[in-house]
Amino acid sequence: MAEISLLVHDLSVAVTPIGTGPLRGRDFGGLHVFSPASIAVAGDRIAWIGPPEEVLRRIPSGADYESVDGRGKAALPGLVDCHTHAAFLGDRAGEFELRASGATYEEIHASGGGIRSTVAATRAGSEEDLRSSVERHLGWMLEHGTMSAEAKSGYGLDRETELKSLRAIRDAGRRSPVDVYPTFLGAHTVPPEFGSAQEEYVEFVILEVLPEAASLARFADVFLERGSFEVPEARRYLEACRAHGLALRLHADQFSERGAIPLAVELGARSVDHLEATGEEGARLLAKSDVAAVLLPACALFLDLPLPPARLLAEEGAIIALATDFNPGSSFCESLPLVMNLACTRLGLSPAEALCACTANAAHVLGLEDAGRLAPGYRADVLLLDAPDWRHVAYHLGGDRFAAKIKSGRAL
Ligand code: NIG
Ligand code: FE
Repeated sequence: MAEISLLVHDLSVAVTPIGTGPLRGRDFGGLHVFSPASIAVAGDRIAWIGPPEEVLRRIPSGADYESVDGRGKAALPGLVDCHTHAAFLGDRAGEFELRASGATYEEIHASGGGIRSTVAATRAGSEEDLRSSVERHLGWMLEHGTMSAEAKSGYGLDRETELKSLRAIRDAGRRSPVDVYPTFLGAHTVPPEFGSAQEEYVEFVILEVLPEAASLARFADVFLERGSFEVPEARRYLEACRAHGLALRLHADQFSERGAIPLAVELGARSVDHLEATGEEGARLLAKSDVAAVLLPACALFLDLPLPPARLLAEEGAIIALATDFNPGSSFCESLPLVMNLACTRLGLSPAEALCACTANAAHVLGLEDAGRLAPGYRADVLLLDAPDWRHVAYHLGGDRFAAKIKSGRAL
């Protein structure tokens, strides 16, 4: 065993998803539960996890390491938020108020507000403003236990602001303890200067923005929905992004089903996200494929949408991940523990399934093979809950209480 730098000792319990890679079908929700437990860390990696006396036996006597007292605490992997829109300026509190008095999200979008109002605010700020905004948002996420996060562009929709957003995400990630993975959401919606010329806008993005955006992003994403893009433009955009080496994601079936799942399966996308409007046939097709279903119950709550068919997806063997969808318009929520609570109370997932969906399966969506588990060789990203039972992470509604956080082997 490599030299131990930190030992979390005598935990009430430590939990981690079983196996490797994504968990689906009968394995979904499978956890190793060690009780009591200790976790030994070497540098930025987990070296060992297991019963305290077994872990101690593996550490050479006289070794010098930092100790964290785990008594009365539960350890779980640092959470992975695989769908966030962290790069924006301004807010939509005014629209929130309008919605409270009956206006719908789609009506606000159709009248030129919604995403487009955040686009205007984001274009108006400097790159420095945007970087500090992303950094601030990452700080909020970390407070709630997120240690790896995806962050999308998509509030620029012109060359300068899209690239500025992706650089801001990169630079904020370098300053934050949270590991950040950027997504190019150049096809979020059609910006006002293009009117309703979806095809023209997509051609512009592909020719003028994508070549440079591809060197700053890992993923590409599109909003396939009435009022944004239909299948032909989505296909054109995604195929071009794939040719530039980006892995593909889709915002789809949020308000209406319009062919996104067959397209995602055909293109070998990494995930389809939302699925509030997905019917049985779509759910079964997705479940049988290797395209992950990313469920965003905070968004469904925020917009009062129907819920996605989570149980059907789970029974049919889909790769299910959960995420916040953090953004100013449809889900102003950065808390994965809250999302886990909603998954248990509204989607019919068990706490164990919700945990897998925010750790191992979310890591899979981001292509991370060494995050989302407390197992030897994985990143030493560890949350210590201030409770003796790990289920409190989902059970305590909006009240996640952490006794300690360890990121890449260092106590924060
Ligand atoms: O995931 N649906 C599209 N995009 C975001 C919302 C963006 C916004 O309203 O600003 C979402 O819900
Ligand atoms: Fe989203």
